[in-house]
Amino acid sequence: MTTVTLPGVYSPQDDTGLLVRLLRDEHLPPHAEVLDVGTGTGAVALVAARLGARVTAIDISWRAALNAKVNALLARLPVRGRRGDLLAPVSGRTFDLILSNPPYVPAPAGACPRRGVARAWDAGHDGRLVLDRICQDAPALLRPGGVLLVVQSVLSGPEESLRRLRAASLRADVVERSGVAFGPVLRSRSGWLHDRGLIEDDAEKEELVIIRAVRPG
Ligand SMILES: C[S@@+](CC[C@H](N)C(=O)[O-])C[C@H]1O[C@@H](n2cnc3c(N)ncnc32)[C@H](O)[C@@H]1O
Repeated sequence: MTTVTLPGVYSPQDDTGLLVRLLRDEHLPPHAEVLDVGTGTGAVALVAARLGARVTAIDISWRAALNAKVNALLARLPVRGRRGDLLAPVSGRTFDLILSNPPYVPAPAGACPRRGVARAWDAGHDGRLVLDRICQDAPALLRPGGVLLVVQSVLSGPEESLRRLRAASLRADVVERSGVAFGPVLRSRSGWLHDRGLIEDDAEKEELVIIRAVRPG
């Protein structure tokens, strides 16, 4: 499949691959409606479309939303790229599957960046600024039996995601774990992460997890 990555758009990485792997294990109903939140190049959205779903792909970045549209056109797949803040563009709609590889990296800055490439990964001191909003808002957009698959790092507290999703009456579990080497972002802030007690002195890897949450049918 020919795909392009526009300058400034998150290039698919280990977390993308992990989400795609778990997506392929899902049993989608016929004519499934799927949402990909924080779509970047649309890499995850395109896989869902190849599995037969009609996909809406949202990103706060104009470039990313355009990138997802371009890749959908190149692949001739039914992916509708929308620019917007998390779930706002689809308020009032419901989905069989919601996918997200959101920003989840703990960052020295207390707020999410308003622009620039770091908007793809930085998510406040605890890495939860975007995750908490997804846990809060996604349950209402799931159809009965619908599934939320979300990636995060253990550095940003998967137990807090589980707690929030269960409080919203979803059945939520960590269904996959994968150790990945620190990339340049984590390496550059390893001192800060260590000072916050998030990593050991000599840490070189983080653990990514996939959380799967189901709205009871
Ligand atoms: C880690 S990247 C993942 C990109 C792609 N899904 C992938 O797996 O390769 C996170 C994406 O979320 C987008 N994003 C950040 N904050 C957002 C928000 N509030 N609403 C929608 N998208 C957001 C970023 O622009 C970025 O494209």
